[in-house]
This record gives sequence, structure tokens and C-alpha cells, in this order.
Amino acid sequence: MNIIVNETHYIGKNLIIFKSLTSTNDYAKELISKSTPKNGSVILTEEQTAGRGQAGNEWHAEPNQNITCSIILDTSTLEVNQQFILNMLVAIAVRQTIHEFIADKDSSFCIKWPNDIMVNSKKIAGILIENSIQGNYLQYSILGIGINVNQQAFSKEIQATSISLENNLEMDMIEIFKKLLLNIENVYANIYNKDYIQQEYLKHLFWKDELKTFHYNNEIISAKIVGINDFGQLLLQYNNDIIPINNKEIKYII
Ligand code: BTN
Repeated sequence: MNIIVNETHYIGKNLIIFKSLTSTNDYAKELISKSTPKNGSVILTEEQTAGRGQAGNEWHAEPNQNITCSIILDTSTLEVNQQFILNMLVAIAVRQTIHEFIADKDSSFCIKWPNDIMVNSKKIAGILIENSIQGNYLQYSILGIGINVNQQAFSKEIQATSISLENNLEMDMIEIFKKLLLNIENVYANIYNKDYIQQEYLKHLFWKDELKTFHYNNEIISAKIVGINDFGQLLLQYNNDIIPINNKEIKYII
């Protein structure tokens, strides 16, 4: 595969492509530990043999059918407590990319907290951000992104879809990949505009302001997502209380 990224200023100018890797995030980590990669370096692979998801989960993607990449960003001007802004920003850009490539705009295009992208309530993309930290500041961030592009079948338990399945059409993966890099670069330009990022994120937040069913504290509960706090915790209105929730403390019953 040979890809030249002309559309961006810095993201993807240094693009390293592999046929197979264990995980693009792992490779990016190794690169950072051994060298000083250029800001915006991207690692892309046709196949991942040990793809990682959030909270220690695995990420499975059929070879040559999906985008699996990691972007290395110099985030040394960001304070550690701004980490969730980065999460929101990447989710916004990935959602926007998927929206651009799915023909039926009546579909729902949502961000499921913290950063899964859902189309018509099915997962279409996942994001794993890993940061290195120095004092109160971030140093590097690895934005690991998996987008289901041309995969046609998923195991029943995960309720997933792909851009191709939604469109009933084989998609040009390289075109989507280049657009993804451009969208991330453009959205990242707003990194210091927290209000804008929060607004965009909340506008597309899955199940926001709807009474829904969740698995929480070994119980099935009816509750409402009302927002996100500055630590990136989900705010759930339940029994007249607002409860801040950490990742994996809650399961959506879809
Ligand atoms: C999730 O939804 O749990 C996050 C999935 C993130 C998957 C991507 S694929 C490219 C990058 N490399 C990895 O090992 N994981 C991320």
C-alpha cells in the first residue's frame, strides 16, 4: 500500500505503513521510547494481531477490511487535567468522518461515552488514547483509532456495523483514512476552545436526556444521561441524584 497524504499540514506527513503489526498503539509507544517521532506521525497497518481496546479489552478487525491506525501527537502544552478534551476532540472528528461517508443522513451518528462511535445504535468505531505524562503536563498522546470500513460480518454479541454495511457498497478505505487525518487536524485546531468541544460532544452524545436502562451496581436501573463533568465522568440522573460515573462502572442495555 502506498499512500501520500497531501491534504493535511502535519498529521500523516510521516506515515508508516505495515502489512501486519500486533497493535499500532504498541508500535507507536515503542517508537516514542526509542526516538523522537515527528509530531503527527501516523502508523497504519493492514492487519492487527493483538489490537487493544479500552479497559483491557481486545479489538478485533478483519485484515485489509478496516482502518486500524495510531496518530502520535506532541501534546506537551496540554495539562494532565485536559486529557478528556483530547478524547472528546478525537471522538468528534471520527464521528464527523463517518457521517461524511454514510449516505443515509437520517441514520443516527452518535458518540457513546467515553468515545465509541455508533451508527443506528451499533458500534462502528473505537478510540484508544494513551498518554505519556511529565509532571502536570502531557508529553505525547497516541490516538489509536479503529473504524469498521468494509467488514461484512460481526459476532452477534457486539452489535457492530461498518460503513460498507450501512451503505451496501464497498468503500475506498484510503479516501476515508485521508479524510480522517484531515478532520482530526482541523478539529485539533480547537484544542484550547473547551466550550466548543464540549458543546459538539454533548450535541452528539448517545442517549443524552433520555430515560434509558443501564446495568449499574449489580442492578438494572432506569436513568438519564445529563452531561459530562470536567474529569470526563458521565453524569447520570438517577433517583433525583446526579451520579458521576467512571468508565466500566455502567453498562448500557441497548
Ligand atoms: C475500543 O473501542 O475499545 C477502542 C478500540 C481501539 C482500536 C484501535 S485499532 C488501532 C489502535 N491500535 C490498537 O491496538 N487499538 C487501537
